Amino acid sequence: MTTIGNPDHRDSGLVFPPGFVLGSATAAFQIEGAADEDGRGPSIWDTFSHTPGKVWNGDTGDVACDHYHRWEQDLDLMVDLGLDAYRFSIAWPRIQPTGRGPANPAGLDFYGRLVDGLLERGIKPVATLYHWDLPQTLEDEGGWAVRSTAEAFADYATIVGEALGDRIDTWTTLNEPWCSAYLGYGQGGHAPGRTEPAAALAAVHHLNLAHGLGLQALRAASTGDPDYSVTLNFHVLRGVGDGAAEATRRIDALANRAFTGPMLRGSYPEDLLADTASVTDWSFVRDGDLATVHQPIDVLGINYYSTTTVQLWDGRSERQGHDGHKASAGTAWPGSDGVVEFVAQPGPHTAMGWNIAPEALEELLLDLHAQFPDQPLMVTENGAAFDDVVGPDGSIADVERIDYLRRHFTAAHRALEAGVDLRGYFVWSLLDNFEWGYGYAKRFGIVRVDFDTLERTPKDSATWFRELTATRHLP
Ligand code: NOJ
Repeated sequence: MTTIGNPDHRDSGLVFPPGFVLGSATAAFQIEGAADEDGRGPSIWDTFSHTPGKVWNGDTGDVACDHYHRWEQDLDLMVDLGLDAYRFSIAWPRIQPTGRGPANPAGLDFYGRLVDGLLERGIKPVATLYHWDLPQTLEDEGGWAVRSTAEAFADYATIVGEALGDRIDTWTTLNEPWCSAYLGYGQGGHAPGRTEPAAALAAVHHLNLAHGLGLQALRAASTGDPDYSVTLNFHVLRGVGDGAAEATRRIDALANRAFTGPMLRGSYPEDLLADTASVTDWSFVRDGDLATVHQPIDVLGINYYSTTTVQLWDGRSERQGHDGHKASAGTAWPGSDGVVEFVAQPGPHTAMGWNIAPEALEELLLDLHAQFPDQPLMVTENGAAFDDVVGPDGSIADVERIDYLRRHFTAAHRALEAGVDLRGYFVWSLLDNFEWGYGYAKRFGIVRVDFDTLERTPKDSATWFRELTATRHLP
């Protein structure tokens, strides 16, 4: 065993090959702040977070990490961390304040400066078009439950494609459409906070359609040679009890195959349509839609944090809901609500209450590789919230986060060795930030943000990650 840099970090002997992208990720609403500046319009998360009772502590995205003003300082942090790539999202309401119509030049300029700043520093820009901040005006017209939102998304994609498509390394259409559809329109724990099962399934389709229309628009508008992708949050399912196979099949259909089906195979799974027949007849799927959605992508983005355990509900016991953010309760599972229940996981847990299961990341990567052998994969998010303690000297010894990351990087490395075409890995997140319904209470950053002073302090996990990027040996 050799020791590199920080003597606490012994070399695991695992090496990530040259070209394997080591990055970190954020999202616009979670870090930017400057909610009313330079012509930005309101998004559904502005409305939702300003509605009492929706977000812990009444936290909003008004200031967040103030990245909109501190982006250069944040770029310097990225250089210090040795990032190969930075995954960020573009705020649709900065580009089109009402979700339609001409581009807002100030909004485009912000992302132009950010992208140029990344390129000047040798960091690849990986840009997501939709990380949940739908312009409020579009929600007022029906949101993702209506088709016109997907059509508006295509216009937005054309605008950003024309403005930035000469310089972006990788375009990602959507981040975790499962959350947008089911948490936003089914369970209601995310903006816009609707609890309408049929609307959630319509949202699934209109998000899939937006992905397809968005890809077409980006391809037509980009003059460079970017890669194209989408990021999905796969549910790695564990079934228990007599009906384990049926419980996992149902949730796999709703959570995973509802997106991979149309995007990667060109059809909705038959069992999904059958399971949800009492909720909707899927008549919002029009002729030609599936061909639009089903297009080659260069890389499939995977967000992974923990596993999900399910069982068939026996109809008698009090039904369990687990974590609201992951949405087991209520109408988050149209067609399976009242059929499947979610089982609490034994620890260890992160501060989100999510169980720590690195082996499931390896399993997921192997499974996706088996299902889609020619599809390159990328871990676009993995990381953990813990209750960080600032030491007397100001340092943050986040050993649990380092351990979490080390074990998940090890799992990814095992998948690589098994022949999975895994192109890279982005740690969530660069900065502590607005963790949606949890506000600022849950910290995922490898860099601490003091939300009073907005000061940034790299945690020990940042030092650990810097060692990985510098040596490519997993410390
Ligand atoms: C998934 C989402 O993409 C991101 O916005 C969120 O903060 C993390 N997971 C952690 O919950």
